[in-house]
Amino acid sequence: MTKVIPVTMERRAGPNGGYFPPAFLKNCWYVAMWAEELAPGQLAARKIINESLVFLRKEDGSVLAMDNRCPHRFAPLHMGKVLPGDKIQCPYHGLQFDAAGECVHNPHGAGTIPARARVRTYPVVEKHLCLWVWMGDRAPDESKIPDFGILDRAPKAHMTRPDGIRVRAHYQLVVDNLLDLSHAMYLHDGILATADSANAEIKIAEAGDSVTVGRYAYGVPIVGLHKVYWLHDGPGDRFSEIRWDAPGALLLRQGVCSPGAESTTGSGYYGVHMLTPETESTTSYHFIALRFGVHTPPEDDEQINERIAKTRLFAFAEQDAPIIEAQQRNIDIATQPLSPSLISIDSGLVRCKRVLQRLLQED
Ligand code: FES
Repeated sequence: MTKVIPVTMERRAGPNGGYFPPAFLKNCWYVAMWAEELAPGQLAARKIINESLVFLRKEDGSVLAMDNRCPHRFAPLHMGKVLPGDKIQCPYHGLQFDAAGECVHNPHGAGTIPARARVRTYPVVEKHLCLWVWMGDRAPDESKIPDFGILDRAPKAHMTRPDGIRVRAHYQLVVDNLLDLSHAMYLHDGILATADSANAEIKIAEAGDSVTVGRYAYGVPIVGLHKVYWLHDGPGDRFSEIRWDAPGALLLRQGVCSPGAESTTGSGYYGVHMLTPETESTTSYHFIALRFGVHTPPEDDEQINERIAKTRLFAFAEQDAPIIEAQQRNIDIATQPLSPSLISIDSGLVRCKRVLQRLLQED
């Protein structure tokens, strides 16, 4: 007689414990790079939501983007040559493609061009110091580029250099990090915050596809980077407000004002954070900062900007990225569905996830 052995089915979580959204948003704008990174006539490769793209700054100064894969035998086009008329010559067998992605020259045999020898192109807009690329099939809507006009209006003397790092984690973990600024007390203790702001007031506002999370600590010691731009002694009111635009564009307004005063009377900086998913486990992270309420002498501008740039790079690359990448590794090995134990500091995150879920359904 055959013995029947009961089998307990392991409850599988799917990839990453089902923690991340099942897909990337497509019909939206992603930052491909800082505009200044692409010189005239130069090719640059970027991976965006699992697509490999090549960018070229054309002769008229505008930028084209197309699939970075030759349709002949799939060589990457960014390794090729730029020819007059904004044509790209494949590095392998020399097929040439025009700015519309059409193959316009075959140097072999009779020069016949196969009907399918074309590559997909993507709309690109240069705005707010960035190159934005539209990855979806729907008609691109330029009005959907999040408003970072602050970058166009700020005096150069009060801006840091454009910067960036690559984080080996899903972009959502970096969004989570930025929306929950309470982590600054622990990860950036003494640099950006201290335990004094543990009971900060949290305010959340939602408008369209955007969510803003505010955090306000009253009458607290002013520490670290904040002392560079806030020249008064004694405690102050610290504020940080971060606006999220789906899926990964964030604008932080962070600073200090006198106790009881309006934050508009204070000093601080805007931190621009642009997150572009490369894959499910890598993110291209662009950032820059610009000061407001500046009362420091102009001769100190360069040094202050440098201090802000260095501190932020250190905080993101040496303090945030290691913990975010460790989170990713922990999530990667989950065999059970992951459901976070939420606490009060997570309310902003939850709102953003709801917005993203709605947008993904519409996508
Ligand atoms: Fe591009 Fe052959 S792979 S021409």
